[in-house]
Amino acid sequence: MDTPIKKHVLLAICGGIAAYKSAELVRLLRKKGLDVRVVMTVSAHEFVSPLTFQALSGNPVHLQLLDAEEENAMGHINLARWADVVIIAPATANTIAKCAHGLADDLVTTLFLAATCPLYMAPAMNQSMWNKAITQDNISKLESYGVVFIGPDSGHQACGEVGYGRMAEPADICQRVCEHLTVPMMAQPKISALAGVKVLITAGPTREHIDPVRYITNRSSGKMGYALACAALKAGAEVSLISGPVNLAEPVGVDFIQVETAAQMYEAAMARAADVDIFIAAAAVADYTPSLTENVKIKKICDQTSILLNKTQDILAAVALLTPAPFTVGFAAETHDLETYAQDKLRKKKLDMIAANWVGRAEGGFDSEQNALEVFWQNGRTSLAMASKTVLAEQLINSIATRFNEKKSRS
Ligand code: PMT
Repeated sequence: MDTPIKKHVLLAICGGIAAYKSAELVRLLRKKGLDVRVVMTVSAHEFVSPLTFQALSGNPVHLQLLDAEEENAMGHINLARWADVVIIAPATANTIAKCAHGLADDLVTTLFLAATCPLYMAPAMNQSMWNKAITQDNISKLESYGVVFIGPDSGHQACGEVGYGRMAEPADICQRVCEHLTVPMMAQPKISALAGVKVLITAGPTREHIDPVRYITNRSSGKMGYALACAALKAGAEVSLISGPVNLAEPVGVDFIQVETAAQMYEAAMARAADVDIFIAAAAVADYTPSLTENVKIKKICDQTSILLNKTQDILAAVALLTPAPFTVGFAAETHDLETYAQDKLRKKKLDMIAANWVGRAEGGFDSEQNALEVFWQNGRTSLAMASKTVLAEQLINSIATRFNEKKSRS
């Protein structure tokens, strides 16, 4: 991905164990040609030495709000003016709360208040603290003022608990910030994470006919797949969308292919998969189809009846087996053992990535406006917290673009 040279990133680091990850973030941002300056809260330098960030950023690290020496060189207002973007990573519950209430009692919160450029926060905290209504209220408030949150991810935490609260991966934060700096701030044609990349997406359910009036289907609304198609378009991709029957408007700007059955979806996907760079299987394809479709309506004669079902062809596995195969991303919809089944599908179907979601719960999954995803790839993972499918799709497309571009640069 192209990134502007010498854009100014101000990275604010708060006191949390995730502060060590910010060292990698500085390295990645510098690698993209960005000029990085670091500010730290007092408790942040209990976790990582300012010298680490000075060495990695190539700039002095700012620690004090009222430091006569620094004030002469570059006061907090100048520092805020200097920045093209401010990232607070890790952002602790305490700093988030202070920012949400306009408090400015240290350098980080003062910069937050003084900055007029876009503001990003990558929260990191214990999962109970993250889930507290007061924290969520603070986040909603900051979002309503335009602050963009990246993460947090879910998983094992330093405190031994499991849940949401881990800081997003430095690669994902870097990707989001670079996209921001590249797209709106450069007075030149849009350069996006997937510019010119061909993406094929499946979405929605399939219908497997029993007779002319009955069929087997599932609760997929197509919302996740359609949101992915829009997010990929926004990222500059050429998008083809193969859709099962849903009640959604055809997204403008995509090559749209309407299908009904699993067999039709298989034919449509296989006819195009060899010509695309990325394949994303968000459809809930029927695993089984009636071995026979009756030509006439089945009459209610017996007390019991049964339908013999045959396994459908696995579209995702078939695409991943092509040589060369596109960068292949599957979904896993699970009611239990989410990670085990997702990792199993990733390995057995030879996928590049898999996005796993819970289904059959009150929130997320099928036919919901919101969703949350656990995303896995070989030797890596990220968690995308519960959000609207539109927001989530943009995050997933970013993550896919990062991995796709990494794989491309290796080959
Ligand atoms: O459409 P929404 O209402 O927005 O809901 C979104 C969703 C829950 C449908 C979506 O997020 C999702 O999880 N899609 C995959 C659903 C599914 O069928 O999961 P699975 O674990 O049964 O299948 C694993 C993968 O194999 C999926 O990528 C699926 O598309 C693919 N598959 C399955 C069977 C088959 N015959 N061919 C396939 O390609």
